Amino acid sequence: MKKSIAILPGDGVGPEVIDQAVKVLEAVGRRFHHDFELTYGDIGAVAIRKHETPLPYSTLDTCLKADAVLFGAVGDPAYGVNAPVHLRPEQGLLQLRRHLGLYANIRPVTGIPKLLHLSPLKREKAKNVNFLIFRELASGVYYGEHGRDAEGAFDVIRYSEKEIERLAQVAFYQASKRKKRLTLVDKANIMETSRLWREVCTRVAQGFPTVKFECMYVDTAAMQMVSDPAQFDVILTENLFGDILSDLGGGLTGSIGLMPSASLGEKAPLYEPIHGSFPRAAGADVANPIGAILSVAMMMDHFKAYEEAFAIREMVQKTLEKGIGTAELGLDTVYSCSQMGDTIAYLIEESEEFNLSAEEMGKRAGIII
Ligand code: IPM
Ligand code: MG
Repeated sequence: MKKSIAILPGDGVGPEVIDQAVKVLEAVGRRFHHDFELTYGDIGAVAIRKHETPLPYSTLDTCLKADAVLFGAVGDPAYGVNAPVHLRPEQGLLQLRRHLGLYANIRPVTGIPKLLHLSPLKREKAKNVNFLIFRELASGVYYGEHGRDAEGAFDVIRYSEKEIERLAQVAFYQASKRKKRLTLVDKANIMETSRLWREVCTRVAQGFPTVKFECMYVDTAAMQMVSDPAQFDVILTENLFGDILSDLGGGLTGSIGLMPSASLGEKAPLYEPIHGSFPRAAGADVANPIGAILSVAMMMDHFKAYEEAFAIREMVQKTLEKGIGTAELGLDTVYSCSQMGDTIAYLIEESEEFNLSAEEMGKRAGIII
């Protein structure tokens, strides 16, 4: 296949983890004879410094023309919470999500067998952590009116039925392909938008009679994710709750550096590790590139390149199984960020071992959209 991919390394550790993900992408291209055309763009603080805006038009244009976007991270202490809105790196990402119509953010929360010791949960619980968070990404408080008035400040949450329904459809579909359990997380005892989410999701649920649908308040869900994570299969939730719960998911598996994500919508899908820019580690070559590398696997799922996705996941597992990892994983052999990328890319290109049936590989992929 021939695909054009926009590469947006961004800030902090973004560039170094994306370098490793690109090594893996190129190894997949060579090994499986695909032509990946990569075009780089600036976003976030690096774009503010060069172009005085966190999302230059050239970057947006590259993304609009691409088949997929690979994204690192945005955020820089030089442009903190008090910077004016047009000079906030995070705005670059928010604008990009809006322009690409990325409404479905999918964050798999899966324990990795070799790394159960990292989880703050007891081993028996940690090994059963395996769920998907479907976070609404294009609306809610992130895009509502923010402001100050004479007495204080306000942030508006607004959802249309259409915005809820389009995400609910993909989440229910995904649940119907998995363990057939979907939990809508909301705050319907307080919020009118949550009551609308319940109404719309109850309607969508009727189209998926095999899926067991339940609703849970977000405070209870936070507690249940820690005390009994095995009960969850697909979690569906609005933008802000999804932001918070997905970091909690990263905490459950023990290393947020391992977690990939996919954002799907109306135009090119976007793939990114969820760890963020981690400015203190920037440039030190110690960040964990696995979240970024597994994001490339999710991109391959989207291209229906299941063998390629399988190869990436398998070689990540193999590296970890051998006791090799970045420092924070506490394994026997500590590799730098770039050594991890080199190793995984090399294994993908050289290994002869991907002789599973296409169906089996598709099943292992986890995401079927
Ligand atoms: C995330 C991040 C972003 C968000 C920030 C960087 C704007 O925390 O992708 O979860 O809040 O959506
Ligand atoms: Mg977040």
